[in-house]
Amino acid sequence: MSTILRNIFQKRSMNNASSSRNHLAPRPLRRCRSASPAPPKAPLLTTEQQNLIKKSWQRVSKAHIGKSIYQKMTSKSPDSKSLFLVDYSTISRHERYFVDLIQTAVENLTDMEKALQPWLEMIGKGHSGFAIKSKDWDSFGEAIVTAVAEWILPGKQHRETIRAWMLLSSFISDRLGAASQRPLDTSNHICTPRIQLLTLISTGPTLSS
Ligand code: HEM
Repeated sequence: MSTILRNIFQKRSMNNASSSRNHLAPRPLRRCRSASPAPPKAPLLTTEQQNLIKKSWQRVSKAHIGKSIYQKMTSKSPDSKSLFLVDYSTISRHERYFVDLIQTAVENLTDMEKALQPWLEMIGKGHSGFAIKSKDWDSFGEAIVTAVAEWILPGKQHRETIRAWMLLSSFISDRLGAASQRPLDTSNHICTPRIQLLTLISTGPTLSS
C-alpha cells in the first residue's frame, strides 16, 4: 500500500474510532429551554408611564372618584347593581375600597407583581362567593380609566396617560377576575366571603377602612 493510501486509511479509521467513541461516550447534558433561567421580566409600565399615572392621580379628587367608578361600572354592567344591594352602606364602602385600591396600586407601580398581586389575589378570592361575572370585573377596570380620564387635562400627554391607566386598570381587573375564580379556604364554614374580606381589609398593605 502506498504511503499516501496508508495515510488516508489511518485518518479514516481514526475518524471512525473518534465518531464511534463520541457516539458511545456520555455526552454533556444539553441545557433544555425550560431549565434555562427565565429572562428578567420587563416591568408592565415604563418609568414614563409610571410618572404619567402618578402625575394624573394627583389631580384626581379622591372624594369623588370612588362614586364615579361605581356609577360608570354599573352603567356598563347594569346587572352588577343588584350585587351591591347587600346593606345600606355596601356601595359607599366599595367606593372607598376602590380609591384605596388605586392609591395602593399607584404607590407600588415599580413592582406590581410583588406588591400588588398578593393583595389582588386575596380580594379576588374573597369575592368568589358572590355572583360577579368576568364582564363585571372588566367593567370595573374600564370604569377606572373613564373615571380617571375626567380629571386628566387634554394635551400632549393625554393619550399616553390614558394608555398607561388602561394598562394599570387591566392588570387590576384581570387579576381580580382570575382570582375570583379561585375560592378562598372553605374548610372553615363559619368564615363567609364577607368575613374573610373584612379580615383581609384589616391586614392589607395600606387600605384603610
Ligand atoms: C365587580 C366589583 C365588585 C363587586 C360586584 C363586589 C361585591 C361585593 C359584595 C356583594 C360584597 C358582600 C357585601 C356584604 O356582604 O355586605 C363585597 C364585600 C367586600 N368587597 Fe367587594 N365587590 C367588588 C369589588 C371590590 C373591590 C375592587 C374591592 C377592594 C378594593 C372590594 C372589597 C370588598 C370588601 C373588603 C368586602 C367585605 C367588607 C364589606 O362588605 O364591606 N370589592 N363585595
